[in-house]
Formats: sequence, C-alpha cells, structure tokens
Amino acid sequence: MSLNRRQFLVLSGLTGGFGVAVLMQRTFAESAIQRSPAPSQPPPPKASTPTQPANANVGQAIAPQGMFAPPRGDVRIAVISDLNSQYGSTDYEAEVDKAIALIPAWQPDLVLCGGDMVAGQSQSLSDGEVQAMWAAFDRHIGAPLRKAKLPYGFTVGNHDASAALSSGGTFLFQRDRNLAAAHWNNPKHNPGLQFVDRGKFPFYYTFQQNGIFYLVWDASSATIRADQLAWVEKSLASPAAQKAKLRIAIGHLPLYAVAVRRDRLGEILDQPDKLRSLLEKYRVHTYISGHHHAYFPGHRGKLELLHAGAIGAGPRRLLNSDRPPQKTLTIVDVKLGSASTTYTTYDMTTLQLVKHQDLPRIIVGPNGWVLRRDVQEADMTPEERSLI
Ligand SMILES: [Fe+2]
Repeated sequence: MSLNRRQFLVLSGLTGGFGVAVLMQRTFAESAIQRSPAPSQPPPPKASTPTQPANANVGQAIAPQGMFAPPRGDVRIAVISDLNSQYGSTDYEAEVDKAIALIPAWQPDLVLCGGDMVAGQSQSLSDGEVQAMWAAFDRHIGAPLRKAKLPYGFTVGNHDASAALSSGGTFLFQRDRNLAAAHWNNPKHNPGLQFVDRGKFPFYYTFQQNGIFYLVWDASSATIRADQLAWVEKSLASPAAQKAKLRIAIGHLPLYAVAVRRDRLGEILDQPDKLRSLLEKYRVHTYISGHHHAYFPGHRGKLELLHAGAIGAGPRRLLNSDRPPQKTLTIVDVKLGSASTTYTTYDMTTLQLVKHQDLPRIIVGPNGWVLRRDVQEADMTPEERSLI
C-alpha cells in the first residue's frame, strides 16, 4: 500500500521549552492534560450503586519518594503496558521491575495493563517455554502485585494470546491462548478483580471497582469479530455499565496509529470509526490501548484515547516526532463527580515527567487521526485541518 507522505505529517506542538524550571513542568503536568467530558456529552447519571467511602487520601500529593507527586483523585489507576522482552524471554527489563517495585508507593486502587505481558506468538517455542514465560511473569509482576494487594486488570496482547485467524477460521496461536487461559484461570493467579462477567476471561470480560465499569475486549488482532461486538454492546448497555459513574474500555491494539512502523493495517484496529461510535454510544469515557510502544494522550470525538507506552523492550518514536522513544508509566487520577481524568506520565528510565506540551498536537495515520487530549477540534490550525 502506497501512503502519502503528507498523510503522516505530524505537527509538533509548542516545544514548551527545554530547561524550563521544574515548577513549570509541574504546572504543565497538572493543567494541560486534564480534560472534562466534551460539551456535547451528557452529564453522567446519578449512580444507584452503593456509594463507597471516599479514599481518605483524596487530594493528597502521593508518589514514590523523590518523584513528582500528583494530587490523588477519587480513584487512581496505574497504567502499564507491553512488558515483555525478546521471544521466549523469562526475564524483564530493569524498568519493569522498577515500576512494579514503585507502584505501591503511588497508592493506586488498580493496576491496568495494555497487554504483551509475555513474549509468545512464535511457533518455534515449546509448550514448556511458554509456560516458563508465564511463571516468570508471575514472579516479576503477578505475585508482587498480589502481595501489595493491588487488583490487576489487563487485556491480552498478540504476544500473550493472539486472536489472529488462519484462512480456515481457526486461531493460529490456539496453544498460546490455551496456556494464557490456564495461567489466568489458576486460582493462585487471581487478579483480585470484582468481575461482572468473566465468561470469556481472560480474553474479554467486565469488572467494576470504585464506581467505574471496565470492559476488556480481545484486541490482540486487528479484527474484533461480530459475536464479540454483540457482547460488547450488550455489556455496555447493561445497568451495571450505565449506572456506573464512568466507563473505561481496554484493548491491546489502538483505534488509530501513533507510532513509527506501527502505522499500517494489522497494527491498528479495523473499522476504527465504527468501534469508536459504539463506545461513544454507551458513553465510554476512555479507551486504553498498548501495542504501539509509544505514549500518546489523545482524544477523538467524545472518546479519550490513552495510548500507553511500553515499559519493556522496544519503545518506539511517535509518528514524525523527533523525541527519542521513552519507556513510560501513567498514573490516571479520576474525579468521579466531574467524570474527568488527569494523566501524570513518567519516563521510567529517568523517573522524570513526560511533558505533554512536547508531544505532537495531532497525529495522522493510515486509518484516521488523533488529537492530543488538551487540543480541541475547534482549535486546530488551518495547516492541521489540511492534514485530515
Ligand atoms: Fe503487541
């Protein structure tokens, strides 16, 4: 497929200035990335679920010692993604171990992972090698989070349990899917979630926590099949979802491309606008994805799009951005009353903040475009408009 070079042009935002004082960085981190629902979005309904006591630390600045500490929201979520190393690896890069060790000090209510927890999707790996990778995942990530009593929500990635199909319609990586299911259905690996529907766990399922309804779909390949989409619609239309104060969806592949060498079909979801309409119809606030290995806090239409960066091997550059790749972790603080979220994102190599004003204002890929979350459609420049 020949793609117009201009289609991939990404306009960088204001640089924000290198060498800006730390205080200024903090102001940026807190102000520019906070977004409330779009004006056209109806206010969230009053929740009829029992009100849970507010966390005693709401509003307090909480983070690991020496790191920038954002004020805690009503709900705090630590978002990680793409943890794995090379095929068959039973080890993790230093940033993964560092993040897992630090996460309890942010005091999150939940850890969410955008997938690719192990490095499968290779027919040359034996069953024993795949099982050894899941055992290593549990040593490095699963067990420490259970010990810290942190619930772990996740979506399977293509390296965990690819849903790619053969020409005959069967799963190409059925073995990987069987072993992933065996790992996660082992009671010893209980992720500590309050499931609403775990019928197809760990591939697609729903859970709720602290007034938020979470829907996980199987976006480990580009196509989400019709039967699963029927389940998505039914789940999002359910009273549990609609009475929640907020709805969040999670899947491995993003709707739109954000990273270099991921800007091609197969690395992004098919029919992104149709999927986005479905999520918007049921007032999903945010779709969290991984796979592109590049952090980008985006939005499109009424949907927030949190592209989680990789924390394991192979971080990638954002499309047409000069910024070097970074391994990142994002803390999402949720204010339930206003249905708004604030992202604080750290480079897990340096432990410094990622300055959102340094990221592109708009990214245009082969199947659509994404705006940085603080840039409104009405504020796009004529040059930006000419790209879409
Ligand atoms: Fe992936």
